[in-house]
Amino acid sequence: MIGASGILSLLFVASCLGDVIEDFEYLSVSEMCELLPPETSFLRPNTCDSWVSCAGNYTNLEQGGCAAGLNYNKELGRCQPKNLCANETEGAFIVDPSSSNCRGYILCKGQKQIKANCPNELIFHPRSRSCVYETQYACPISQTNKPSPACRSLSNHTRLADPVHCDQYYECVGEVLHSRSCPLQEAYDADLGACVPQDRVNCYETAALPEPENTFCVDNVTGKARTGYFADDLSCSKYYICGEPVAGKHDTEPKHISCPLGQYFDFVKLSCRDRLNVRCQLDRCVGANLTYVNVAGDCQSYGRCSGGLTVSLGHCPDGYFFDERNQGCTQTNYHYIACSA
Ligand SMILES: *[C@@H]1O[C@H](CO)[C@@H](O)[C@H](O)[C@H]1NC(C)=O
Ligand SMILES: *[C@@H]1O[C@H](CO)[C@@H](O)[C@H](O)[C@H]1NC(C)=O
Ligand SMILES: *[C@@H]1O[C@H](CO)[C@@H](O)[C@H](O)[C@H]1NC(C)=O
Ligand SMILES: *[C@@H]1O[C@H](CO)[C@@H](O)[C@H](O)[C@H]1NC(C)=O
Ligand SMILES: *[C@@H]1O[C@H](CO)[C@@H](O)[C@H](O)[C@H]1NC(C)=O
Repeated sequence: MIGASGILSLLFVASCLGDVIEDFEYLSVSEMCELLPPETSFLRPNTCDSWVSCAGNYTNLEQGGCAAGLNYNKELGRCQPKNLCANETEGAFIVDPSSSNCRGYILCKGQKQIKANCPNELIFHPRSRSCVYETQYACPISQTNKPSPACRSLSNHTRLADPVHCDQYYECVGEVLHSRSCPLQEAYDADLGACVPQDRVNCYETAALPEPENTFCVDNVTGKARTGYFADDLSCSKYYICGEPVAGKHDTEPKHISCPLGQYFDFVKLSCRDRLNVRCQLDRCVGANLTYVNVAGDCQSYGRCSGGLTVSLGHCPDGYFFDERNQGCTQTNYHYIACSA
């Protein structure tokens, strides 16, 4: 994939700056094709009479030039006579369609097209065919929508993949590149050049789908938002906090908090406390940093830990009770909540 990492870093930096307009300034033709649906044709950048046709299933990337006297029309996808002055009288002024700031015009003189710009602060009025003040004619392309070199080459409404976000894409409207988002639950299929449901999307190879929404704070019985403190089903020393819903939407970023080493979260006291004072039905070797641990429901048994998991169970002699704190069997029964029935 030639240049893919180059595109990626270029676009990433650019989109971080929120400036998508210049993103494609330095892309090669084959790099542009990588972002476009197969077999898309466009005007070769910085030319008027050369075209590029991106590779398809059975065709390779192809480049060609128009016959002498013709220009490539990217909207029609073919070459056309280029003399804009053909039907004009000698000395006529006409609008320069390639001008992005409305200042450009063309002077028809001796069968030739002479390009020029209106003086500063004036723009070309296509109907009065003269340079006027900006208050006299609203330039359809606003100053903030700068033309993109890529869109100057692509036909109207051509779409390009966003190499980073699969649920977004770019679209040329006129000469301006716009960033677009697919509808909810959809993403941009780089082969089809369209948004499709996420479960059957074929993302551009470096584009990622958005992280699925975190639904931990949705009650899976009622379907409503839940708030407060919740157990971590994998560890007794961790817990979640679901915040209040915001604008009717459940907390999508619940806090996941760990108690200090040796403590478990107690849902009655809503606090972290000595793990021997908390019932935990999960493996008590997890996160314990101990060799032997008490066993839930049996104060005479103990578990042996290895690699943070219980690997075997043992039993103290009759009349002895296991004490995790002292790492051995003793004749004192401390009735730890951790091992009580
Ligand atoms: C390429 O092949 C795929 C799968 O056979 C097909 O769906 C797609 O329409 C083809 N694309 C083109 C541009 O022919
Ligand atoms: C000039 O007029 C002819 C005939 O009406 C038309 O086909 C052609 O597109 C026109 N050319 C331009 C540049 O307007
Ligand atoms: C491109 O499409 C937009 C919206 O459909 C339209 O307003 C605009 O005139 C078109 N631009 C060109 C150059 O055809
Ligand atoms: C709700 O989620 C919990 C864990 O998150 C799971 O144990 C339980 O089976 C789920 N209940 C239903 C009705 O899906
Ligand atoms: C676990 O115990 C070992 C040896 O006693 C110690 O080096 C390590 O820092 C402890 N780990 C934690 C997380 O406290």
